[in-house]
Amino acid sequence: AGFFRWTWRLSKLAAIGGVGYVGYGIWEMRNPDDQPPPDPSKKTLVILGTGWGAVSLLKKLDTENYNVVVVSPRNYFLFTPLLPSCTVGTIEHRSIMEPIRNFLRHKKASVKFYEAEANKIDYEKKIVYISDDSDIKGDVSSTEVPFDMLVVGVGAENATFGIPGVREHGLFLKEVGDAQRIRNRIMDCCETSTFKDQDPDEIKRLLHMVVVGGGPTGVEFAGELQDFFNSDLKKWIPDITDSFKVTLVEALPNVLPMFSKQLIDYTEKTFKEETITIRTKTMVKRVTEKFIEAESVGPDGKKVLEKIPYGLLVWATGNALRPVVKDLINQLPAQADSRRGLAVNEYLVVKGTENVWAVGDCAVANYAPTAQVAAQEGAWLARMFNQMAKTSEIQEKLGELSIAQEKAPGKEARDKVFDEIKDLQKSLRRVKQISPFEYTHNGSLAYIGSDKAVADIPWFVGNFATGGTLTYFFWRSAYVSMCFSTRNRILVCVDWVKSKVFGRDVSRV
Ligand code: FAD
Ligand code: NAI
Repeated sequence: AGFFRWTWRLSKLAAIGGVGYVGYGIWEMRNPDDQPPPDPSKKTLVILGTGWGAVSLLKKLDTENYNVVVVSPRNYFLFTPLLPSCTVGTIEHRSIMEPIRNFLRHKKASVKFYEAEANKIDYEKKIVYISDDSDIKGDVSSTEVPFDMLVVGVGAENATFGIPGVREHGLFLKEVGDAQRIRNRIMDCCETSTFKDQDPDEIKRLLHMVVVGGGPTGVEFAGELQDFFNSDLKKWIPDITDSFKVTLVEALPNVLPMFSKQLIDYTEKTFKEETITIRTKTMVKRVTEKFIEAESVGPDGKKVLEKIPYGLLVWATGNALRPVVKDLINQLPAQADSRRGLAVNEYLVVKGTENVWAVGDCAVANYAPTAQVAAQEGAWLARMFNQMAKTSEIQEKLGELSIAQEKAPGKEARDKVFDEIKDLQKSLRRVKQISPFEYTHNGSLAYIGSDKAVADIPWFVGNFATGGTLTYFFWRSAYVSMCFSTRNRILVCVDWVKSKVFGRDVSRV
C-alpha cells in the first residue's frame, strides 16, 4: 500500500510539475522580454522573405550582432507541407501560419520588419527598392533599404510555361489565399451542379476536378480532394455521388518522378482504388474557361489533341523565377547561364557578388527546391553569420591588443599582452573554420489519400521505401513535430480530431 501511495504522490507531483512547465512556457511566450533596439552602427543585414529559408536563418541568427531588417509581403511563416490539407478543410489555414511579429519579438535584439515586396535589388548601389502592395497604403508606400549584407529568400512563383489561359482560369496551390480559393471553388462547383434544371453534361463538367502536374503538390491535393468526397461531400450532397470525378494530368510517363519506382506503382495503384483517374503522357497545351486542351499519343502512335471539360482546375506544374530574382540575374554577368534561379557557390554566396547570399527555391545549389533544403540552408547561413560576427569581434580585439602591446611598459607587460594575442589568434583560427554547406537528405514523404502515405528514407547506404497506413501515421507525426511552434502543433492536432469527429465543413464563404 505504501508503494502505491508513494507512486500516486510522485505522479501527482510530476503532473503538477508538467502543467507548471507548460504554463510557464505559455506565459513566457505571451510576455516576451524587452529587446534592445537595432544598432545602426552595426552592419545592416537585410533578409528578403519569411518562408522556410529566411525563417530558419532568423531562428538561429544572433540578431544582436547585426542591424537586421526583414522585408516580405507576408507577415507570417507558412508551413507548406500541410497546405494541401487546407484546401478541403482537414486543417484550418491559421493552424499552419505563425505570425512573424510574435517570432521576431522573442529574438534577443529587435529586428525591423517591413511588410513589403522587394521590387528591385540594385547590387552596385547596395540598395533594395521596396513597396507596400497591401490594400491600405500610407503616404509613403515605396522606399529604399540600403544593405551591407543581403540574403535573398524570396522563393519561387508558379510555373505556367506561358500556356495560354492558365493564369486566367486555373488555381494554384502555393499560398494560404490559393488554398482558400480552391476550397471555395470546390463547394461552388458542387452547389452549382445541383442548381435546378442543370443539364447532365454541365453537371459532369462542374463536378470534374482536374489537377495538372503529377509532382507531390498535385498528388497530395488529388488525394485530399478524393478523401473529402468520400468522407464528407457525398454524405451531405448525395446528388453529386455519380458525377464527382478527380483527374490528375501529367506530361511524363509517371507521377511523383522523384520517388522510387515501387512507390510510384503503389501511388498509381492506390489512386486507381480511390477512383482517381491518372492521365500520364498527357501535356496540357491550352486552358479555356470550361475545358483544357491536352495532347497525348493515341494507340496508333499519332498525337491526339483532346478537350477535357472541368469545373475546378488546379495547376501544379512546379516553380518559376520571381521577377526580382530575374532582374538580379540580369545585372550579374556571372549569372548569364542561370535559368532556374540564382547560382550560388558552396557558401551560398550568389555567384558574381560579394555579401549577397541566396537560400531556398530562388537559389540553385544542385538540390531539389524543397522545404528541407531551404531550412538547412537558412540554418547553415545563421551559423556562418554568427561565426563571422565572432571573427570580427576577435579581430577588433586583436587590433586593440597589438596597440596595447606596443605601448606596454616593460617586458613583463608586453609578454602578458603577447600571451593574450596568442590565445585570441587560436580562437580566431577555430572560429574561422567554416566548412561549406552540405545538404543532408532526411527522406521524402507524401500523402496520397485514404489514410495512406509514401516515404523514401535514406537507410544506411541504401534507401528504405515504404507506403501505406503505417507510413501515414509516420507522415503525421513527422509533420506535427516539424511544425513551427507548439501552438501550431496543438492547433493541427485539434483540427485533425475535429475533422475526424465532426467531418469537414462544407460551407462556402
Ligand atoms: P517560401 O517558403 O516560398 O518563402 C518565400 C518568402 O518570400 C515568402 O515569405 C514570400 O512572401 C516572400 N516573398 C515573395 N516575393 C518577395 C519579394 N519580392 N520580396 C520579399 N519577399 C518576397 N517541401 C518539402 O520539403 N516537403 C513538403 O512536404 C513540401 N510540401 C509542399 C506543399 C506545397 C503545397 C508546396 C507549394 C510546397 C511544398 N514544399 C515541400 C516545397 C517547399 O514549400 C518550398 O521548397 C519552400 O517553401 C521553399 O522555401 P523558400 O524559403 O525558398 O520559399
Ligand atoms: P514538380 O516540379 O515536382 O512537378 C510538376 C509536374 O508537372 C512535373 O511532373 C511535370 O512533368 C508536370 N507538368 C509540367 N507541365 C505540364 C503540362 N503542361 N501538362 C501536364 N503536366 C505538366 O512541382 P510541384 O509538385 O509543385 O513541387 C514543387 C517542389 O516542391 C518540388 O521540388 C517538390 O519536391 C516540392 N514539394 C514537395 C512535397 C513533398 O515532399 N511532400 C510536396 C509538394 C511540393
